[in-house]
Amino acid sequence: MNTFPVHLPQTLATVAELKGGPQFLDIHGNVVETGNLSPKIAQEPLLAETYEKLLTSRTRKTAGAFYTPLDVAEKLTEVAVLEGPVVDPACGGGIFLLSAAKRLAALGGDPKEIARNQIFGSDIDEWAVAVCRWELAHWAGIEPEEVQGVTKADPLTEKPSGWPDQFGAVIGNPPFLSQLHRTTSRTADRREELRSRYGNLLKAYTNEAWLFLAMGLELLAPQGQMLLIQPLSLIGARDASEIRKKILTEASLVGLWVDQSTVFIGHTEVCAPIVRNSLIDKKQVVRYTGRTIQEVSSVEQPSDPEDWGGLIADLMGLPSTEFTGSGQVEHKATTTAGFRQHFYGLVPGVSEQKEEEIKHPLITTAMVDPFNCLWGQKSVQFDGKKWERPVVDLNLVAEFDKAVGEWMRKRQRPKLLISTQTKVIEVVVDEKGDWVPLTPLIIVEPQEEDLWALAASLSSPIVSALAARQTAGAARSVSRITLSARQLLNLPLPSDKQALNEAIEIAQFIHKSSDRNLERSWLLFGETINRAYGTKNKDLISWWWNRHPEARKQNK
Ligand SMILES: C[S@@+](CC[C@H](N)C(=O)[O-])C[C@H]1O[C@@H](n2cnc3c(N)ncnc32)[C@H](O)[C@@H]1O
Repeated sequence: MNTFPVHLPQTLATVAELKGGPQFLDIHGNVVETGNLSPKIAQEPLLAETYEKLLTSRTRKTAGAFYTPLDVAEKLTEVAVLEGPVVDPACGGGIFLLSAAKRLAALGGDPKEIARNQIFGSDIDEWAVAVCRWELAHWAGIEPEEVQGVTKADPLTEKPSGWPDQFGAVIGNPPFLSQLHRTTSRTADRREELRSRYGNLLKAYTNEAWLFLAMGLELLAPQGQMLLIQPLSLIGARDASEIRKKILTEASLVGLWVDQSTVFIGHTEVCAPIVRNSLIDKKQVVRYTGRTIQEVSSVEQPSDPEDWGGLIADLMGLPSTEFTGSGQVEHKATTTAGFRQHFYGLVPGVSEQKEEEIKHPLITTAMVDPFNCLWGQKSVQFDGKKWERPVVDLNLVAEFDKAVGEWMRKRQRPKLLISTQTKVIEVVVDEKGDWVPLTPLIIVEPQEEDLWALAASLSSPIVSALAARQTAGAARSVSRITLSARQLLNLPLPSDKQALNEAIEIAQFIHKSSDRNLERSWLLFGETINRAYGTKNKDLISWWWNRHPEARKQNK
C-alpha cells in the first residue's frame, strides 16, 4: 500500500529538487522549504504526475483531477496546436501546457520566450498551478515566477487578468463534473453563477466540461484551434445539444478524437472535438482513435446537432442507415414516460393477483420481451419485493396520490410499452389497454388502428440502428440504446405500405406463437420491415440479430 507524505508542499519542493532545476515556489512567489523526504513516487518523470498521486481520491473526484498521460497530451497537441499563444483553462500540473510549449519550440520558438509569453493556464488548485509553473520553468531554464501566464482562477466565471484577448490554441482536459453523481453535482449557488454567464447552455445535466468548450470558443483568435478532451456523452447527450449547436453554427468541427476506455482511469470513454474558429465551406471532420491518436477516415461535419452520433457510428461498429421513410412517429402517436412519483405512487396500489380478480396488470421493464409481455410468466422485483402476478388497484393509487391515479387512468387505452437501455428497441403491445406501466417504461399511444403498424416499425432493425446512432455516447457504452420519449417521436415510419402489412402479419404471428424457436420468423420479420423502409443493407440485419434477445435465447 502507498503511504503518502503528509507535508504536500514540502514533498513537492523535495521532488522538484531531486529532479534538478529551479527552486519550487508557491503561487505568491515564496520559496517552499524542502525536507528529508525521499518518496518513492518521485520516480515519476514529471512533477505533475507525482502531484497527481499525492491527491486523495476524493479530491480527484470532486475536482475532476485526472491528469492526461504525457504521450497522449503530446500527440493531441501536435494535431491541434498550429500557433501560439496557447491556453489550457484547467491546466492541472501542466501536462498539456508542457506539450504545447515543446510544440511551439518545434515550430521554431525560443523556449524561454515561449514559457514567459506564449503559454497561459489556470486552475482552481493553487498547488497544481505552482507545479505547472515549475514544470514549464524547469523545461525552459527560467524561474517559476517568470511563468506569469499560469494563474489560480476559475475561468468559467471570470477571464483571468493578464491573459491576452485571443489565443492561437485552446487545449486541455477540463474537469468532467457529471450531474448524475452526488460527488460532482453543483450547488445551487454554482448553478446560478454559471446560468448568468452561459444562459441556455446550462441545463440540469450539463457536464461542466462542456461549458469549457463554450468558454474556449470565446478565447480563440480567427483561425485558432481548440481541442478539449470531453466525456463521450458530448456526442449524444440531450443536454449537450446547445453546445453542439454553438460549435456547428459559430465555428467548424475539423477533427474528432475518440477513445473507448484505454487512456483514462475507470475506463472513462472520451472524445476530443477539434474546433476551428472560422466557418469553412467544405466541412470534413478528420477522425482519430485510440491511445496512439491514429488518423482514420474523415466524415462530413453533421449539419444537425442531434446527429453527432453519425461521426462515430462506424467506429463503434454501428451499421449505415439509409432508408426511405414516410413521416415520423409524432404524426401517428404521442409518447410519454412517468417520473419517480409515478413509480413510488403505485406502491400502495400493488398486490398479488388473487383468483378471478379483475385488476390491472403491473408491467415492469423486466417483463418486456420483443412482442411478448412476460407478465405472469416470470417473477419480477418491485418495491424491494418479488412478485409473480402483480396487479394494481387504481382507486387505491388515486386515494394516496390523486395526480398519479389520474395519470395512470389516462394511460388505460391500447398502447405500446418500450423498455429503455436495451440493445435493440423492444416493444410490447397492450391491445386491451388495461396495463399499468412502471417507470421507466416509455408509453406510445397511437390510434387503435395504428397500434401494430407502430409496433412493427419501432421493432425494425433500421429504427434500432438509427436510435443507437442517435444516442451513441450518451450511455456509458454504445451497446445500449437510451432513447427518451421525446426522441422516439422523431423516428421515421416506413414508406412501403404493402411490405409494412406483411411485416405486421409476421409480428402478430410471433406475438401469438408458443413456438420455442422463432429465429426464422424473426429474421423474416427483419427483412420484411426493412423492405418497408426501402433499406437494402444486409449488415443491418446481422447487426440487429446479434443484439436481439431472441438470438441470445437460441444461443443459450
Ligand atoms: C482532468 S484535470 C486535467 C489537468 C490537465 N489539463 C491535464 O490534462 O493533465 C482537470 C483540472 O481542472 C481543475 N479544475 C476543476 N474545476 C476547475 C475550474 N472551474 N476552473 C479551472 N480549473 C478547474 C482541477 O483542479 C484539475 O486540475
